[in-house]
Amino acid sequence: MFSSLSRRLALLAVMASLGLVGCLDSSETKIDDQGTSNSQFNWVLPAYVPRPVEPDFNPMTEDKFQLGRHLFYDERLSAGGNISCASCHHQDKAFADGRVVPIGTHGESHRRNAQALVNPAWFATLNWGNPVTDTLERQIEGPLFGDDPHEHGINDTNREAILADLLADPTYTALFSAAFPNESAEWNYNHIIFALASFTRGMVSYSSPYDTYLAENNIQAISVSARRGMDLFNSERLECFHCHGGYNFSNSVMDRSRNFPERNFHNTGLYNLAGSGNYPVGNTGIHDLTGDIRHMGQFRTPTLRNIALTAPYSHDGSHATLKEIIATYAAGGRHITSGVYVGDGRLNPNKDGFIAGFSLNAQEEKDLIAFLCSLTDEAFTTNPRLSNPWPDENGNPRPAPINPGVPKQCLQ
Ligand code: HEC
Ligand code: HEC
Repeated sequence: MFSSLSRRLALLAVMASLGLVGCLDSSETKIDDQGTSNSQFNWVLPAYVPRPVEPDFNPMTEDKFQLGRHLFYDERLSAGGNISCASCHHQDKAFADGRVVPIGTHGESHRRNAQALVNPAWFATLNWGNPVTDTLERQIEGPLFGDDPHEHGINDTNREAILADLLADPTYTALFSAAFPNESAEWNYNHIIFALASFTRGMVSYSSPYDTYLAENNIQAISVSARRGMDLFNSERLECFHCHGGYNFSNSVMDRSRNFPERNFHNTGLYNLAGSGNYPVGNTGIHDLTGDIRHMGQFRTPTLRNIALTAPYSHDGSHATLKEIIATYAAGGRHITSGVYVGDGRLNPNKDGFIAGFSLNAQEEKDLIAFLCSLTDEAFTTNPRLSNPWPDENGNPRPAPINPGVPKQCLQ
């Protein structure tokens, strides 16, 4: 029923060559027609955050969320019985994994850094740079069935056996029946995808010290240094807010207050291979799909919420720390004379106009990092609703998640 990801990508390449995917503004995301007050899910959001879109084909319910939570933490849902979503998405790291790039069920490295899962329901497109994955349901086909690289490694030869193995567990019989009460008990991968999408859609992080400041108009909630950093972040000198704007710090946004998604992708000047303006093959941003040279190096603006927890940074994990990535922005692109990332991205012809460079003194750099650190949400990284629901090896309930504490790069 699901075509493999590589087949889809090949199709897209053909469509791109025919000019069929040139327009990135159209959307298949639909706003459900139930009205905001009828959602069956208990969204707990600050007043300044509109409800996210629940697709009409998969409205949110608590039961689907709970089924998705069990699947998210279940290694049986992979070819080798060795990988779950949580293998690459760790709660204590805001669901990033701390590696440069992650490794899938057969030991293959991914080309891109494992993304944090922070408010994914509010992005107009999912993934680092992909205009096509515009719903979580569509995104999740990638890790389950993709073969370039294999993540969970589910394919035509093992899909039935993996499904039968899961359904033999009575815990799932109960969870599937509760999640899909009006359907006959013939559960399939559509149900699995709908549940996983519901769980990830419910990953909500709006409880950082910065949110306390916004919600209560309590400026004391963040330090004096962080306040100075916030002013720098929002200044025309640094330009950060033009792309990392709004309540989710991203200009890729869809919510119920708008009729159309706002999709944006930018080249931030990380590469300029041999002076050609190219990014490394296989990591060229939305150009990978569209084949349009103007899209070279263009990626989605990631949220900066919980950013202090999600190192290393960028689509390929090529910045180790916040200090490093700030240095790249200050230079107006990455200029390195030796090593893996050698090259002068400052001169990339597709670089966005806002990546113009600036200079920061030592105190200002500290202030900017203090502001980014004020976006860490400890209630999110310790939220028991988002944690592993399965008993431990001895059959005992797991303890509540432990607070990872202040990230090292915030102790300055
Ligand atoms: C092998 C590691 C790995 C596994 C396993 C994995 N992911 Fe991911 N995840 C990634 C990487 C890498 C990306 C970025 C992919 C890209 O942009 O090409 C990502 C991106 C995502 C995103 C997009 C987030 C955003 O902000 O756009 C979501 C949602 C997601 N994963 C959910 C899941 C779910 C659900 C599962 C289990 C079915 C899963 N992932 C399994 C590595 C993994
Ligand atoms: C032109 C739009 C734009 C501007 C301006 C901009 N960013 Fe970004 N930012 C992006 C995009 C796009 C990425 C992802 C790029 C990539 O991975 O190749 C990114 C990535 C990042 C990341 C890494 C995120 C992660 O999850 O790995 C951080 C941190 C960051 N930006 C901070 C800043 C700061 C601080 C400023 C201001 C000095 C700034 N950005 C200005 C668009 C922008």
